[in-house]
Amino acid sequence: MMDLQNVIIPLLLSCTTVFTVLHGQKVVTDLKVTGYQGHDVTLLCQYINGNTEDKILQMQWTWQNESSKYEIMVFSTDHGLSLQDTFLKDRVSFRKSSPPIYEASIIIKDVKMSDQGVYSCAYTTFPSGSHTGQTTLTVLEGCHLF
Ligand SMILES: *[C@@H]1O[C@H](CO)[C@@H](O)[C@H](O)[C@H]1NC(C)=O
Repeated sequence: MMDLQNVIIPLLLSCTTVFTVLHGQKVVTDLKVTGYQGHDVTLLCQYINGNTEDKILQMQWTWQNESSKYEIMVFSTDHGLSLQDTFLKDRVSFRKSSPPIYEASIIIKDVKMSDQGVYSCAYTTFPSGSHTGQTTLTVLEGCHLF
């Protein structure tokens, strides 16, 4: 018999809950992520190029809720990164420093309730056009391990 406690406890020690990884056609994101107020949260975004001849021109992250929509950042192959002046400007960064453009996962620091919403990671490529993955971020007040 496997000791169930030894399996479950390590899973509970992380202050981030991640649900199903969504394998879109080309852009991989987590469908839903739960963050905890005051903690950091990672939003995954990777472009899977397969064997096509698509060239990535740029990627951008946007945030939206029922009433508002903001462009958070634009990352262009030619022009590099442009961080827009939003509520996330000082708290958002790529998970990896100088990532290749196909790895655009971000970390949001010190997550707030007002960060909740739908985050879209959209790639513009040539010649196949745009490809988007979305993640719904939910923020809870405390990180309760048990
Ligand atoms: C959506 O975001 C705006 C701007 O951050 C905020 O004022 C508004 O209350 C939010 N709406 C909902 C339904 O959460």
